[in-house]
Amino acid sequence: MTEPTIFRDPDAMRNWVLERRAAGERVGVVPTMGALHAGHVSLITAARETCDRTVATIFVNPTQFAPHEDLAKYPRTFEQDRARLAEVGTDAIFAPPVEAMYPAGFSTYVEPPSVAASLEGTIRPGHFRGVCTVVLKLFQIVPADVAVFGAKDFQQALVIRRMVRDLALPIEIDVRPTVREPDGLAMSSRNVYLSPDERRRALALSRALAEAAHRVASGERSRTAVEQAMRAILEPEVDSIDYAVVAEPESLECPARIELPAVALIAARVGSTRLIDNRRLD
Ligand code: PAF
Repeated sequence: MTEPTIFRDPDAMRNWVLERRAAGERVGVVPTMGALHAGHVSLITAARETCDRTVATIFVNPTQFAPHEDLAKYPRTFEQDRARLAEVGTDAIFAPPVEAMYPAGFSTYVEPPSVAASLEGTIRPGHFRGVCTVVLKLFQIVPADVAVFGAKDFQQALVIRRMVRDLALPIEIDVRPTVREPDGLAMSSRNVYLSPDERRRALALSRALAEAAHRVASGERSRTAVEQAMRAILEPEVDSIDYAVVAEPESLECPARIELPAVALIAARVGSTRLIDNRRLD
C-alpha cells in the first residue's frame, strides 16, 4: 500500500513528473472526475502494468457540464477515492482547486475535432470543448508518457485520440475495456443515483447492445433493423432514449449498411440519470 502524494498546485505536480521522467521512469496518468469505481481501478492497474509511476487526476471539470446538467450534484468522494488509489498503488494524485484550472479571466478553449459533432456532441453542446480543454491542460500539468482512458466513453476516447494526433501532443493514449457489474451494467460514477428499480431497468442498455451484437454476428447488415431491435429492448425499460445507433468506429458515421468493424452506442435516461454504453461489433 503506497500513500499517494497529493498535489493541488500545477507547478509542483509538473515538477514531480518531470523529475521522475528525468530519472528515466515511465509515467502514466489516469484522468478522472473522482467518485472512483472498479472501472477506474482497472485503468490505474493498466497504467501500473506499463509504467514505473502512476498519477491519477481528480477534477470535476465545470466546463464539460451544460448549465442544466449535474455539476453541483456530481458525486464528490475524495477521501474514499484517496483510499482506493492508495490500495491500488497510485504514486500521486493531482486534485486542483477550480481556480488553478480556470483562473480569473480564463478564455482559451480547444475547438474539438469533427468526431465530436455527433451523438454526445449533439445532445450535450459544448461538452467536448470542455473535455478537450481540460484534458489538454491536464496533459500540460502532468506531462506523462501515456494517458489511460476507459472505452465506456467511446466517443470521448476517439475525440481525445484525434486531438492528440491533430495537435501532435507528445503522449500515448491507451484505451481500456469497459468494466461491468456481474449482471452486465457498465460501471459508472452515475450508477450511485439509480434506485433499485432504476438499477434493474438500466440493464436494458447492455441487453440491447448484446442483441445488436447477436444480430450482426448472425449476418444482419441493415442498420435500421439492428437499431430497431435495440430500441425494442430499451423502450419498455428506460424513460427516454437520446440515441441507439450503429456507427463506423473511427468516423462515427452511420451508413445504411453495416460494415465491420462497427460499434453500437446508446445513451438513455433511467429516471433522472443519463447512462451511456457501447459495444464493438466485430
Ligand atoms: O471521463 C472523464 O471522467 C472526464 O471526461 C475527463 C476525461 C476526466 C475530463 O474531465
